[in-house]
Amino acid sequence: MSVAKKEYKRITVKSLLEMKQRGEKISMLTAYDFTMAKIVDGAGVDVILVGDSASNTMAGHETTLPLTLDQMIYHASSVIRGINRSLVVVDLPFGSYQSDPKEALRSAIRIMKESGAHAVKVEGGKEIKESIKRILNAGIPVMGHLGLTPQSIYKFGTYTVRAKEEEEAEKLKADAKMLEKAGCFAVVLEKIPAKLAKEVAESINIPVIGIGAGNGVDGQVLVIHDMLGMTHEFNPRFLRRYLNLYDEMTEAISQYVDDVKSRDFPNDNEQY
Ligand code: KIV
Repeated sequence: MSVAKKEYKRITVKSLLEMKQRGEKISMLTAYDFTMAKIVDGAGVDVILVGDSASNTMAGHETTLPLTLDQMIYHASSVIRGINRSLVVVDLPFGSYQSDPKEALRSAIRIMKESGAHAVKVEGGKEIKESIKRILNAGIPVMGHLGLTPQSIYKFGTYTVRAKEEEEAEKLKADAKMLEKAGCFAVVLEKIPAKLAKEVAESINIPVIGIGAGNGVDGQVLVIHDMLGMTHEFNPRFLRRYLNLYDEMTEAISQYVDDVKSRDFPNDNEQY
């Protein structure tokens, strides 16, 4: 079923709620810098996530844990300078919100004040309820993130599908309801069974954005480096690659090297 797309001059948390109510799917992609954000925004993506996946894609770390609040603010402020329409959501990095609600609020305020972003995202359910409430009470929109939460990778031990067992699925459903009740404007569900994700999306009124969570949710998010094929060693089943930029860029750059070595570049028209 295709649903009429409403033209929004600027996407707000209210626009996303309206999209869910109308049945219009929400598009979300990551971006971490000015140039990419300008392209993603110009292509009509509704939400740009300045994800802590920057730790992997931009900094080359194995996990998302090392990224600092200052680094997230740097990425987020670069993205903000590139956008006109998209809503920009920024991950609170590992260690910046888990210890106590006051610290969580201080971190969220720094992101909003120093980057100009529009909302923050946090990973987890009832364990961080008080921090979420504290941030929301300050007027900062919060997006939740349940299922596979990469900041807890050392607790899980692997990046496999989450909530396949009854007990974890029940906790996830209760956490999603808690996030809605607390006042979050949306929830990301990562790498969980499609049937469970659909059930969650149908059980709450706020938008549910999936990554590896099937088509029964209200929108989709992917990491931009993965969907453009800039990374090629990461091949989960849920990933659709729209380009193979790794090979295309390698080819273009090798051609440049050949042209320099052979003195073909620059030619007479490419100099002063
Ligand atoms: O950091 C990130 O890119 C994310 C998405 C995978 C949802 O949290």
